[in-house]
Amino acid sequence: MPANASGMTSPAFDELSVNSWVVAAGRPSAVGAPLNVPIIPASNFTLGSTQAYARDDGTPTWEALEEIVGGLEGGKSVAFASGMAAISAVFDQLTAGALVVLPEDCYQGVAGLAAAGAARNRWTVERLAVDDTSGWVRACAHADLLWLESPSNPLLTVADLAAICGVVRKPGSILAVDNTFATPLNQRPLSFGADVSIQSATKFIGGHSDLLAGVATTQDEALWEALRKSRELNGATPGALEAYLAVRGARTLAVRLERAQINAKVLAERLAEHPLVSVVRYPGLATHPTHEVARRVLKGFGSILSFDVRGGAVEADAVCAAVRLIRHATSLGAVETTMERRAAIPGQEHLPASLLRISIGIEDVEDLWRDLDTALRVS
Ligand SMILES: Cc1ncc(COP(=O)(O)O)c(C=O)c1O
Repeated sequence: MPANASGMTSPAFDELSVNSWVVAAGRPSAVGAPLNVPIIPASNFTLGSTQAYARDDGTPTWEALEEIVGGLEGGKSVAFASGMAAISAVFDQLTAGALVVLPEDCYQGVAGLAAAGAARNRWTVERLAVDDTSGWVRACAHADLLWLESPSNPLLTVADLAAICGVVRKPGSILAVDNTFATPLNQRPLSFGADVSIQSATKFIGGHSDLLAGVATTQDEALWEALRKSRELNGATPGALEAYLAVRGARTLAVRLERAQINAKVLAERLAEHPLVSVVRYPGLATHPTHEVARRVLKGFGSILSFDVRGGAVEADAVCAAVRLIRHATSLGAVETTMERRAAIPGQEHLPASLLRISIGIEDVEDLWRDLDTALRVS
C-alpha cells in the first residue's frame, strides 16, 4: 500500500470486495493522521512540493474523491465542480467542426450543452436511440465524440456497452459514458473499452442531496492530462466541503445502493400491477425492452424507475402533490426517495405528459409503497 504524494493509501482494488474497498480507500496513512482526509480549504500551498496552487494542482481533499471514484471506475479520475463541469471538460476536447453523437434519451443538461455548441457552429450533433446498437457501432467509424448515457434518463433504456465500446473508433475520437444512473458498482464502462466514464457525484456518490460535484475517469493518460488542463483553464474546481462530503457519501455507496435496489424492484413490480399506472420502466422487469441487455451489462438494475400515471399531466401532478414520505423534488441517487414529473422540466416536453421519474431511497419499502399507492388513489 504505497502512499501517494498526499500521504494517502488505498488497498489494491482486487484485494477486497468492492464493499470493503470503498470503505478502506483514500485514507491518510501517516501515524497520528486523522482517519479521513480533512477538508482542506486551500488556494495555495507553501512552494517546494507538487502542490502550489489548487486550481492547477488539486488538493488532498479532491484527491481522496479522485482516488475512490477512480478505483471504483477502474481508471484515473479528475474531480470537478459538478457533473456538468465534468461533461463540459469532455466536450472541451473537441476541435472545430467535430461530429457529436448523442442518445435521443439523455440528461437534458448534456443535450442543452450539445445544442448550444452546435448553435455556435462549434460542432454538429446527431441523435441515436440508446438501444440502436448497430447505429452506435456504425457511428464509431465517423463520430468525434460518442456520448452514451446508460441507463438513460428518464426512460431507463440500457445501451449495449459491451457491443459498442469494443468497436474500432475513428482515430482521436472519444467514447464517453455518463455512468451516473448505474454507478460504478453496477457498470464499469472503461472495462468495456469506453475512453471516459462520468459521474455526477451530486447523485449516488454523494448520496445525500447536499452537494454538487462531478468526476471524469479514464485509463488514457493523455486524456487524463487534458481533462485536468480543462479543469485548470476553465476553473471548474470542486469545493473543499463538497469533495469531503462526496468522499463521506461514497463510503456508504455500496450499502445504500444495495438497499435502494431491493426497494426499487419491489416498487417496480407492484407499480406494474397497479390499476392507475399504464407503463413502468425499470431495467429489472422482464417486460422492459432492454431487460436482456441489462442482464448482460449491469451488475444490478439500479434504483431509478419511471412510470406513467393513467390520465395526463394533471393526474401525475396530483400524485406528486399527494405524496408525504416521498419528496416531490428533482435529482436522484440520494438516501431519500424523490419523484418528479419530467415533462414539466424545460427541454423534456417531448416525454409522456404523465411520466413520473422516481429515485428510490433507503426508506422502508412498505412505507414507500403505502405512500405511493395512497397518492395514486387520491389523485
Ligand atoms: C444522468 C445525469 N448526468 C449528469 C447530470 C449533471 O450533474 P450535475 O447536476 O452534478 O451537474 C445529471 C443531473 O441531474 C444527470 O441526471
